[in-house]
Amino acid sequence: MKVVAFNGSARKDGNTAILINNVLKELEKEGIATELVQLAGKKIRGCVACMKCWENKDQRCSVTNDFINSCIEKMIEADGIILGSPTYFANISTEMKALIDRAGMTSIANDRMLKRKVGAAVVAVRRGGSIHAFNSMNHFFFIGEMIVPGSIYWNMGIGEDKGDVEEDQEGLDTMKVLGENMAWLLKKIHGQSNG
Ligand SMILES: Cc1cc2nc3c(=O)[nH]c(=O)nc-3n(C[C@H](O)[C@H](O)[C@H](O)COP(=O)(O)O)c2cc1C
Repeated sequence: MKVVAFNGSARKDGNTAILINNVLKELEKEGIATELVQLAGKKIRGCVACMKCWENKDQRCSVTNDFINSCIEKMIEADGIILGSPTYFANISTEMKALIDRAGMTSIANDRMLKRKVGAAVVAVRRGGSIHAFNSMNHFFFIGEMIVPGSIYWNMGIGEDKGDVEEDQEGLDTMKVLGENMAWLLKKIHGQSNG
């Protein structure tokens, strides 16, 4: 089994990456393979609304000259998908929105090709707006017929400068339990015994 995670921050290896890695650590303890894809610095644009994905139905976005199709391929191959974003103006980053719009529309156009995969959203925040960002990412999972595990709080960690979230123990605990619950759910879905 494999989980692929996307860090939508414009800042590589920052707070969002730290939070995601804390979830991935728990998944790996349970024998689940993981991959972190960081969108920072990658060539990415938003949906152009050409609707060609509905004509082509080839599990690809019709805009082929940027990074998004490689992300979509990784989503198709994975059993679980984590979307992580910093809070930018009380919402997700531009990069994460582009990924959601294009992977989401491609999925819906292809008979909801991501359905019944396990999905989870993770947010880094300095102070306010993280719930909105969290909800924005969850919309991707729910309309795509994906299955979303919970944790002991909404999946967020508090911090501003790189590394600050390491001081947010409740945030780190939330990531740990999220990873445990995601692993539990994946094993149930794939018929492996667990507690
Ligand atoms: C353009 C921009 C907008 C931001 N907007 C918010 C915001 O609305 N609320 C907030 O609490 N923090 C805001 N922040 C702070 C980041 O969410 C915070 O520093 C976060 O930890 C960054 O995560 P990263 O290290 O993964 O990039 C903003 C940062 C940037 C660069």
